[in-house]
Amino acid sequence: MPLPHSSERRIIIALDGPAGSGKSTTARKIAHTLGYVYIDTGAMYRAITLAALRAGAAIHNDALQTIVQTSRIELLPSAEGQRTLLNGEDVSTEIRSREVTETVSSVSALGVVRSAMVECQRELGNAGGVVMDGRDIGTVVFPQAELKIFLVASLEERARRRLAELGASAANITLDEMCAQLRERDRQDSEREISPLTKATDAIEIDTSSLSIDEQVSQILAFAEERTKG
Ligand code: DC
Repeated sequence: MPLPHSSERRIIIALDGPAGSGKSTTARKIAHTLGYVYIDTGAMYRAITLAALRAGAAIHNDALQTIVQTSRIELLPSAEGQRTLLNGEDVSTEIRSREVTETVSSVSALGVVRSAMVECQRELGNAGGVVMDGRDIGTVVFPQAELKIFLVASLEERARRRLAELGASAANITLDEMCAQLRERDRQDSEREISPLTKATDAIEIDTSSLSIDEQVSQILAFAEERTKG
């Protein structure tokens, strides 16, 4: 796929969907092909969760307010994808730990956390030329995004992908257990009061259950090409 001509507009691509729907790999490849910046917003919620766990903070608005105010999160592009720094420390691996994964849905449901993260995400993406993945990018962060994609996949396929991603560190987790974990995260992310995971009315839904990464990437690039030409 050719890089965009310099006269084409650099748009905002919002990529939302549940855990394991293929957002991050897809978003990274699209950003790379278009020469856009890739922003994994889940990593921001994970970094705040890690800061809260390290501080032994209770998961409620007051405690998290302090954590948000004292945490500096930086997202750096790198050859392997985005690196996440918390107060200058590279925490890219630690934010994927089981403890963070089990706590992040509760932390990301809190108003003080969401408002700070959304403000930061708007600053990062405002100028366009960005592929941002998350749960509320097309609905709340950038409702004006030129292209909104909502990725879905069957629960079992998402669980299979998650286990493959985790590799040896998931050797003692069965497919049924992973399905149960994902079902619970889906429930928490979709039922929370503030900015729940939901498809924007003008988003294009793509079911990735039986698509390869390359197939989903080329479908989205075709939509992006249409939109950049206005
Ligand atoms: O994409 P992920 O699994 O790394 O996201 C971690 C959690 O962060 C997920 O359970 C929901 C939350 N999240 C969110 O609420 N809003 C976003 N824009 C991105 C992630």
